[in-house]
Amino acid sequence: MWMKELIDKKRRGQLLSAQEIEFLVKGITQGQLSDAQVAAFAMAVCCQGMAVAEQVALTRAMRDSGSVLDWRDMHLDGPLLDKHSTGGVGDLTSLVLAPMLAACGAYVPMISGRGLGHTGGTLDKLEAIPGFRTCRSTGEFKTQVKQTGLAIVEQSSQLAPADKRLYAIRDNAACVESAALIQASILSKKLAAGIQYLLLDVKQGNGAFMPDTDNAAQLASLITQIAQQLGLSCAALVTDMNQVFSASVGHSLEVQEALDSLTGQRRASRLLELCLALGERLLCLSGLQPTPEQARVALMKALDSQKALERFAAMIHAAGGPADFVERAATYLPQAPIQLPVYAGDSGYVQQMDCRKLGISLIGLGGGRVQATDCIDHSVGLSELCQVGTFVDSGRPLAVIHARHHHQAEKCRALLLEAIKTGPQKPAPHPIILGEVG
Ligand code: URA
Repeated sequence: MWMKELIDKKRRGQLLSAQEIEFLVKGITQGQLSDAQVAAFAMAVCCQGMAVAEQVALTRAMRDSGSVLDWRDMHLDGPLLDKHSTGGVGDLTSLVLAPMLAACGAYVPMISGRGLGHTGGTLDKLEAIPGFRTCRSTGEFKTQVKQTGLAIVEQSSQLAPADKRLYAIRDNAACVESAALIQASILSKKLAAGIQYLLLDVKQGNGAFMPDTDNAAQLASLITQIAQQLGLSCAALVTDMNQVFSASVGHSLEVQEALDSLTGQRRASRLLELCLALGERLLCLSGLQPTPEQARVALMKALDSQKALERFAAMIHAAGGPADFVERAATYLPQAPIQLPVYAGDSGYVQQMDCRKLGISLIGLGGGRVQATDCIDHSVGLSELCQVGTFVDSGRPLAVIHARHHHQAEKCRALLLEAIKTGPQKPAPHPIILGEVG
């Protein structure tokens, strides 16, 4: 079999057999496929799609490109579970929800991702913390999960290596928006982590890879169907990404906001509601709580008792971050030299937010990658970001830009003014949960 022939077969819209897909994934993992060939394969899948049987074969082969974790030797006294988002802007949910779940008795071995397209990545956010290591051996990963209830790591040569390579190349080659590639990327990581329960947060809206309701609902059913075929109990919520849930976009700023949510110092209401909605479903799916109402009480207790905050602190320290990070976060997180508030031309209520433009504005500030090898600036971004329905005037900015250079701040300002529209009428609030599968 020639790799080139198989890429051509997919380019012409023909079906690949499971054996052919395994051969391609081996080539991605072991390096027989060049970066150009991997990108060509990804582009062929983006343009031609894949049948469900091909997607099951792709996901299975990507899962088996490394080890699949076996947790029996750890004698855990709770379920192994995880949540994963299909990609959003200012989406710091995992940083808040994972410690809440751990504080409720779950074990959360999270293999996460970096920024993809205009969306942010949990690993990039965590690397704003000095010393934090996302690259861990499987032994370290398992021990940390047993000891602290959670760990957040990246794909590695041992865990989902095919996704590690394909993910970075897709980002670079504009091959992100493919349901087949998104599901295989997510599920291969989650299956490799050996979890028992997964809740998908399928984002829908102008900041998501699935802008309309039908595509988002289809992606949610596709992922749950394939997960179940591969033995993973999975459900999905479709959630709104027509506005940023939090008040921050950017790595340091999002870590600080996650910390503030856990301490209770500042809790964006939509972010809290999203964490509770996702957490409720997961605690019920895994049998940790009998009803959504009881699950909500347990999640709020985890926050109010500071148990979730303790898990967050333990997770950071176990991964190499400072032991006193929670107490002294502002001194550890890098801060940008320029802070520029941006005001709307006319006072009024925020009507609409183009979240894709907000994600692109972060890349323009240096907080995202243009090339796979780019270093990112963890200090830059947006804070005090308004919500749809916020009243803005000369005293309340749309957001505060954090930038390293004046020309970048000015470009970002222009993009923000294009991205956020105001008007005289207060708009109706957007619902947070738009659909549910499983
Ligand atoms: N998250 C992932 O892990 N992969 C994708 O392709 C999209 C979101």
